[in-house]
Amino acid sequence: MTKKVAIVTGAAKGIGKAIAQRFISENYTTILVDVDDISGKQLAEELGTDAHYFNCDIRIEKSVEELFNSIIEKFNRIDAVVNNAGIIKDNVIWRMPTEDFETVIDINLKGTWLMCKYAAQQMKTQQSGRIVNIASRAWLGNPGQSNYSASKAGVIGLTRVLALELGKHGVLVNAIAPGLIDTPLTQKLPLDVQEKLIQAQPTRSMGKPEDIANTVAFLCNKNTQFITGQTIYVDGGKSIGAGI
Ligand SMILES: NC(=O)c1ccc[n+]([C@@H]2O[C@H](COP(=O)([O-])OP(=O)(O)OC[C@H]3O[C@@H](n4cnc5c(N)ncnc54)[C@H](O)[C@@H]3O)[C@@H](O)[C@H]2O)c1
Repeated sequence: MTKKVAIVTGAAKGIGKAIAQRFISENYTTILVDVDDISGKQLAEELGTDAHYFNCDIRIEKSVEELFNSIIEKFNRIDAVVNNAGIIKDNVIWRMPTEDFETVIDINLKGTWLMCKYAAQQMKTQQSGRIVNIASRAWLGNPGQSNYSASKAGVIGLTRVLALELGKHGVLVNAIAPGLIDTPLTQKLPLDVQEKLIQAQPTRSMGKPEDIANTVAFLCNKNTQFITGQTIYVDGGKSIGAGI
């Protein structure tokens, strides 16, 4: 039997790296997509011959199209696509350069949409597949993140629509909304800010990238057959919103 094939965007570090490691441990041929060639190539080497690194800026349709064409030509199938690449550029709206709104929407929402478009074409042809979009708990609203929250709210809307469009074609589409996770993205925050965020968590802790990878593995498992269009919070309870 040919191996299952998974694509993970933003796979060079952080949450994407943990997801790629998890797919490899579950015996998938795993495509690591990123724009950070140094970390991406190094990780693919570490993960062995089932890991393949592709440079692809998910904002650029031609690059996404080429990515899917080469994967289909080489492996002939795509079983799971995890749209994880994302960035933040925080500021209160009155100080936020419009360019920072556009960049965040371009990567987090347009990039995810483009990946979903080409994944949907292949998965509809196959009549099977799983798409997991990494949103964020911040879609509920976070001061200083008008660009980011809007992009992640868009990802959740996109996920729900694709579940409706692809359900009858054997394709399940879900989102994960991580809370505070210990990655290079959050490690860039000043230590006192990190501590404040931890204290605002019901669990008083940060999550690990593996917490998200576990949820991806559950959503892509062959025994998970009846969940689609959902957003699963992996956030130490922060989305409950009360009591802090
Ligand atoms: N870390 C958290 O606390 C947290 C919380 C909620 C949601 N998330 C989401 O999880 C995802 C991963 O976050 P992370 O903390 O691991 O981030 P990270 O910054 O550690 O890693 C993101 C990766 O995406 C890649 N990337 C950026 N722009 C790209 C592009 N245009 N095309 C392809 N790859 C690109 C980067 O090179 C990087 O390797 C993001 O979507 C983020 O919004 C993270």
